[in-house]
Amino acid sequence: MREWTREEKYRYLKDPQEVKELYDRISRSRYRQTFHNQAVTGLMNDPNGFVWFDNRWHLFYQWCPWGAVHGLKYWYHIVSKDLVTWKNLGVCLLPDEADGYDNKGAYSGSAMPIGDKMYLYYTGNHRDEDYVRHAYTCLARLGPDGWPEKYPLPLFGAHPDYTEHQRDPKIIARPDRDCYYIIIGAQSKDKRGVVLVYQSDDLQHGWTFAGELKVPGFEHLGDMWECPSIEHIGGHDVLMFCPQHITLPGRGGSRNHNGYIMGSMDWDTLTFTPDGQFHVLDFGFDSYAAACANNIEDVDKAILIAWMGLPDVSYPTDFEDWSGCLTLPRELTVRGRRLIQRPLPELKKLRDEKLELKANDAGCFTLPEACEVELDIRPGDCELDLFTDVHGEGGVSISYDDGEKEITIDRSGMEIQFNESEGLSRKRPLENGLSHLRIFVDRSSVEIFVNDGDAVFTSRVFPTDDEHYMRVKTGDAFTRIWTLKPAVKEQFLI
Ligand code: FRU
Repeated sequence: MREWTREEKYRYLKDPQEVKELYDRISRSRYRQTFHNQAVTGLMNDPNGFVWFDNRWHLFYQWCPWGAVHGLKYWYHIVSKDLVTWKNLGVCLLPDEADGYDNKGAYSGSAMPIGDKMYLYYTGNHRDEDYVRHAYTCLARLGPDGWPEKYPLPLFGAHPDYTEHQRDPKIIARPDRDCYYIIIGAQSKDKRGVVLVYQSDDLQHGWTFAGELKVPGFEHLGDMWECPSIEHIGGHDVLMFCPQHITLPGRGGSRNHNGYIMGSMDWDTLTFTPDGQFHVLDFGFDSYAAACANNIEDVDKAILIAWMGLPDVSYPTDFEDWSGCLTLPRELTVRGRRLIQRPLPELKKLRDEKLELKANDAGCFTLPEACEVELDIRPGDCELDLFTDVHGEGGVSISYDDGEKEITIDRSGMEIQFNESEGLSRKRPLENGLSHLRIFVDRSSVEIFVNDGDAVFTSRVFPTDDEHYMRVKTGDAFTRIWTLKPAVKEQFLI
């Protein structure tokens, strides 16, 4: 893979024309997505600042213009009326050169709209002349003209009792308490992942450190927690975060995870009392830094979007100088002690042509490059293979073992292998058997929703010309396939 010097990674973008050639080149990639948001050029990672404001949804993503490298990060702005079709608005938060508090990147954060202004909270990733990292929690205000005005001073710097790994402010309004909280992900000096809480009664001023969030029983889950958030869904509090640098059972060599704990949040004592274990949010291979929209009025649900990627790994398109896309938006509800994740109902609008299913001699159907597959499955064992060749060989297998009551997704049959150290398969118990699958296939991803949101498996896949078939290998299923319309406008807007 290409080696980047520090100067190359952290070069400031001065003129959009500097990345026009890259944009033109990557637009021709066979793996550019058609209904998922993806990096306009270079690398995309976390979704940021997800809110409803000014009659449309706003979302930003972490963006490094130059290539598939975690270098200088900008916030790139995209908007949608319906969370299905999206358009680019261009770069929004730009790191300040020289001594700026964010001179080495406008890192992840969140947004809060009030009246005709939207407040953007983000981490200023600062490096001093000795290249020592300092993290600042910064604020910018976006007016109706769409241009951000950065506040000259940060809201607060890194807390001295923790290491410099302090980032990803999530702004939380508590109208019942007449105040706001910012929670950030951090690392204690003895290398534990923690959440720090700040409080103010004014969005723009007066932020004070309230304390470290106590999460009894979860004092030793990884050495850093990135992208924390506390959501309130269906009367339950949910603590979501990304614990780093630990391995978890069933997740191969992966050391970065995104999950949640259900429980109840006491803002007086800053204690999140868990009501169960840490659950992985997504059982697939490529999902991280999930963010929920910050101002949903329906108290029974949340809307979540995640980065369809992982830190510290590489993807086949890195060689084409781009990487990363976002997941489809999902509706989160609570069932029992778990989150249920369904594709947003609006996504049905993407359905175009319903295909007549004509199997070839090997029992395979053509799998269009952008499609939705829905299966109702009768009780018993079942195996469905996606991205097989014309003979039904290879691909990604989805198999359910009724004896073990377990579903397995195995990508070892794909011709293009990547990140093998993360493991080749993922499993998830299904106590009540497998009855339903909804699968979204785009040119380089697959999202598999099991039993109406009981579990979801999200993964990048890079099929070759030959890998465009599917077959139900064993079991009894009623299958429907729709081609899906493109929904993300590819525009060169910087
Ligand atoms: C998570 C993360 C955040 C950070 C951002 C930088 O993927 O590492 O903690 O703010 O990405 O792009």
